[in-house]
Amino acid sequence: SIAACIFDLDGVIVDTAVYHYQAWKRLANELGFDFTETQNERLKGISRVRSLQLMLEWGGIQKTPEEQQVLATRKNDWYVNMINRMTPQEILPGVLPFLQQCRAAGIKTALGSASKNAHTILERTGLLPLFDVVVDGNAVTASKPDPEVFLRCAALLGITPDRCVVFEDAVAGIEAAKAAGMKAIGIGESTVLTGADEVVAGLYEMNLEQLS
Ligand code: BG6
Ligand code: MG
Repeated sequence: SIAACIFDLDGVIVDTAVYHYQAWKRLANELGFDFTETQNERLKGISRVRSLQLMLEWGGIQKTPEEQQVLATRKNDWYVNMINRMTPQEILPGVLPFLQQCRAAGIKTALGSASKNAHTILERTGLLPLFDVVVDGNAVTASKPDPEVFLRCAALLGITPDRCVVFEDAVAGIEAAKAAGMKAIGIGESTVLTGADEVVAGLYEMNLEQLS
């Protein structure tokens, strides 16, 4: 039976995907090209530097690693400005009740995120105490679709992957969950998250009975 629920952060727990999109779009526009929502979809779950590299490819622009660092930092400064103003009201619908249900039922909760800003967001929204384990972009070396982040959550919880369920809004994240040998529930559209075991629109559609 299921012993742990592992949650992606951006787009699952909070709607920061919108802030990431705004910041990347601003950077793209400054560099002289546009950035579409379809392209943004492909950056979900992908690390900051890798996201920048993909964007530069799409824009047909070459930058040295040093220049890339500067651009990634610029994007992150805008992004951090936005998340520093976040409130608990930005927690997505259904998240709080579902986390509370898990804990009441003795199911462990973990955050498995590519973001290096995860702690800021969890603190701003007051969610930090609801997670037994937090593994973020500062703790992993390989980013999604590599399963490292989710395997590390399972290891820290002392639970085998086959007893873990991952909640993910990113194609790369669903791939990572499956590669980890876990169940994957997509948050979003089934036409996009084709690799998921099941897709729901949001955690408000989930309850523990459905999991078992
Ligand atoms: C993921 C987001 O959660 O974190 C990506 O889906 C983002 O869009 C990645 O690039 C890294 O985030 P950060 O906060 O470290 O730039
Ligand atoms: Mg996400």
